[in-house]
Amino acid sequence: YVVNESCIKCKFTDCVEVCPVDCFYEGENMLVIHPDECIDCGVCEPECPVDAIKPDSQDEPDGKWLKVNTEYSKVWPNITVKGTPPADADAMKDEKGKFEKYFKPEPGTGS
Ligand code: SF4
Ligand code: F3S
Repeated sequence: YVVNESCIKCKFTDCVEVCPVDCFYEGENMLVIHPDECIDCGVCEPECPVDAIKPDSQDEPDGKWLKVNTEYSKVWPNITVKGTPPADADAMKDEKGKFEKYFKPEPGTGS
């Protein structure tokens, strides 16, 4: 499973509460999953209010989100406790092209 750009600027963090192996990592405005730690249980997928979590099989043809999740889960801090979403999270739910517009490589604070 991987997190895609729908998470950017939404970051509801409902997903982290259900993961049995705590494999979510936090960037400044999105989370990613560590592909080697994820056991493909799928319980996080329905928890996300913006459908940002998908099986690798539904990734972009070039594996874009697996690459982003692999790269940033190595450098961002682990997050296991639900946090407060950004104030404008609901307004950002339907925004398209968020990766190009808003992606930030800086780490979040983790928890
Ligand atoms: Fe965690 Fe399961 Fe989601 Fe993988 S599929 S990130 S193991 S909850
Ligand atoms: Fe992001 Fe959805 Fe989790 S918005 S933080 S993948 S619940």
